Amino acid sequence: MKMGRSFLLHFLSVLTFTTFFLVSQTGPATGLPLATNSRWIVNEISGKRVKLACVNWVSHLEVVLAEGLNKQPIDAIVGRISSMGFNCVRLTWPVYLATNNSLASLTVRQSFQRFGLAEAIAGIEANNPSIIDIPLIKAYQAVVAGLGKGKVMVILDNHVSNPSWCCHNTDGNGFFGDKYFDPEQWIEGLTRMATLFKGHRNVVGMSLRNELRGPRQNEDDWYKYMQRGAEAVHSANPNVLVIISGLHFDTHLSYLRNRAFRLTFSGKLVFEVHWYSFIDGKAWESENANKVCGWVGDNMKTQSGFLVKKGFPLFLSEFGVDERGTNENDNRYLNCALAVAAELDLDWALWTLAGSYYFREGVVGLDEVYAVLNKDFNGLRNATVLHKITSLRHSFQGPGLSTSRSHKVIFHPATGDCVVRKSQSGPLALGPCSSSDAWHYSHYENTLTIRGTPFCLRAQEVGKPAQLSKDCTAVDSKWKPISDSNLQLSTTTGKNDTVCLDVDSSANEVVVNACYCVSEDSWCDPSRQWFKLVYSTRKPKAGSFSKMMITPTNDGLAD
Ligand SMILES: *[C@@H]1O[C@H](CO)[C@@H](O)[C@H](O)[C@H]1NC(C)=O
Ligand SMILES: *[C@@H]1O[C@H](CO)[C@@H](O)[C@H](O)[C@H]1NC(C)=O
Repeated sequence: MKMGRSFLLHFLSVLTFTTFFLVSQTGPATGLPLATNSRWIVNEISGKRVKLACVNWVSHLEVVLAEGLNKQPIDAIVGRISSMGFNCVRLTWPVYLATNNSLASLTVRQSFQRFGLAEAIAGIEANNPSIIDIPLIKAYQAVVAGLGKGKVMVILDNHVSNPSWCCHNTDGNGFFGDKYFDPEQWIEGLTRMATLFKGHRNVVGMSLRNELRGPRQNEDDWYKYMQRGAEAVHSANPNVLVIISGLHFDTHLSYLRNRAFRLTFSGKLVFEVHWYSFIDGKAWESENANKVCGWVGDNMKTQSGFLVKKGFPLFLSEFGVDERGTNENDNRYLNCALAVAAELDLDWALWTLAGSYYFREGVVGLDEVYAVLNKDFNGLRNATVLHKITSLRHSFQGPGLSTSRSHKVIFHPATGDCVVRKSQSGPLALGPCSSSDAWHYSHYENTLTIRGTPFCLRAQEVGKPAQLSKDCTAVDSKWKPISDSNLQLSTTTGKNDTVCLDVDSSANEVVVNACYCVSEDSWCDPSRQWFKLVYSTRKPKAGSFSKMMITPTNDGLAD
């Protein structure tokens, strides 16, 4: 082909642009900076959704150093963070690290010596010799840089003012004007941190203040100071998302229904919410789990979840459970919270990474049972819990996904998996939500059909696998969500038995069984029968059975 000169120039400039674009795509952590588009967090350049799947990493306690550096090299911890499936870290910091020079300039060694932590010092010397004699603020920067090298995004979270464990109503760090919480100092701290990390491309957001709380809290001051803080951060570093926490330990944001949060800039505002089991005391273990999931889920939507419908991103920036699996209150809550987080397709950050603390609340080496990592930071605490949680990495909706007609996926929060076909006509099993078919739930027919196929879901017999069938008029093809949680999918068999969709725990096969724990029982856990129909517009990847389809000898394809 013969090219004219101007065409060639044009071609070259396109080429240059493309090259630049490719380079910027493969830079530290892809797709940055971030911005917002309605309720979605997106790559500012491509406009595509970037779903935050973060883990919290504590760095705000008395010694002011990211936990675990006495146990493992920074790079090893960062490697684990991404191999566990997280793409980002919410890294905490205390205001004084940014505003008190005599604190920020203490070396790591000096900071630990103040608390007599000789063993931790030896551990840091062995695992991270390059940081032991540098100032605390440089060590914080080294952790952020280490995360950047590992392509992990960072949200700088101002957790407290005075370095210490958080959070109590009366700890002096709860609200503007509390003993340690001087609003002017806070603004100065935010400005300094925003400025300091301006050049770090992997720093994508700043959480302005963790869990506002305590006797001084009020909406007027919340608006006044949070708006000022947001403006201060944005003028110092216009690239970062500005993330705003609500009142009552970041569980209440409902006042935003009636009073707007006004800013001079747009495209960067995100709200954050926290959700734990203990917010509702022991309700989860003392009452029926369907009932509790019903009212607690409604509360969450009224207090904060509504924001996504109003066009704001909502970041579930703290949630988590005792990973030993022995806290029934936590276990039941988690299944419900995962169903809601999948339904609303929220960005999220798990509490927490660090398996132990150098020094927390007066205890040396305190074990953290809410952590994904064990106390030596060299392995998982509970792979089952991690799998459930990281299933939420999957984006169900949002700009730039390869899209199809809206449909449903059938999410099973107790495992974090979705209902998938093992071959063209079944059986059905649990698998990655990315392998889900496009299910369609008809509110008129009450049928669950698979788009592009003649199949619908049928119960057939109690204790047997659920079936795919072409006869979608049978009584056992009519499904309805039942119970206060709406999470049990129920139908009636030809023999007139009421049944619910269930999972055969050994085979991971989708079966039907008698419905259990529907409303009265508080002693039993219905979560094996919990399935959430999650709205999705994401083009389904062909299920694993499609590979079998091109292998004509495969038994799975009898019809
Ligand atoms: C600054 O930090 C140092 C070292 O931790 C501490 O002794 C001092 O009280 C702090 N100053 C203020 C004003 O908080
Ligand atoms: C992991 O948590 C599950 C509950 O989700 C529990 O049944 C299991 O025993 C836990 N495993 C370990 C190793 O703690």
